[in-house]
Amino acid sequence: MKVAIISGTPRSNGYTSELIKNLSAGLKNAGCEVNTVTLFDKVISGCNNCGVCQKKGNEGKCTIKDDMQPLFQVVDDSELLIIASPIYMWQFTACTKAFLERLHCMYDSLDGKRIALAMTMGDDEYVASYAVSGMLDMCEYYHMTYLSSFAVPYADKDEVNRSLYAEKLKDFVNRITG
Ligand SMILES: Cc1cc2nc3c(=O)[nH]c(=O)nc-3n(C[C@H](O)[C@H](O)[C@H](O)COP(=O)(O)O)c2cc1C
Repeated sequence: MKVAIISGTPRSNGYTSELIKNLSAGLKNAGCEVNTVTLFDKVISGCNNCGVCQKKGNEGKCTIKDDMQPLFQVVDDSELLIIASPIYMWQFTACTKAFLERLHCMYDSLDGKRIALAMTMGDDEYVASYAVSGMLDMCEYYHMTYLSSFAVPYADKDEVNRSLYAEKLKDFVNRITG
């Protein structure tokens, strides 16, 4: 299975990157081909609502010529899309949100796209509830298939969350690849 992990963390050595590394290893172990894309080092603006992509025959045509352009193909090619982001201000990070907004032009090709979430946060998992519920609504609107989410709460407090981490991550990989 072709998996695209979309990384929305600004930190290449932070908690989300560590999660992505472990997740990627688990997916490869399960026979997946994994392509990880880092958003923070790219120039990706939010959607400007020009409306061009919404006109008949223009599906997938985004007029904003920035680093999102090659990512439309990455999304199209993936059989499973994993949005991996820390929670900042009860939401996905700004670059993750810009990426998600720009998927608006792919309304037809998102149909049936399998999607999962991987998140880290400083507090309890409940802080991700806005982000998760927004994603559930997005999946319903664009007819994507929401599979599951994995959260690392209290990410900076190793002793709190790491005991079941490996076991839970294994479960998550089984759920999203099964
Ligand atoms: C700007 C900012 C906002 C944050 N907002 C939240 C929040 O709303 N809830 C929370 O639990 N943690 C919050 N955190 C903590 C991060 O989610 C947490 O440390 C995360 O694991 C960092 O991931 P990273 O190492 O990939 O950057 C915030 C951190 C920053 C820098």
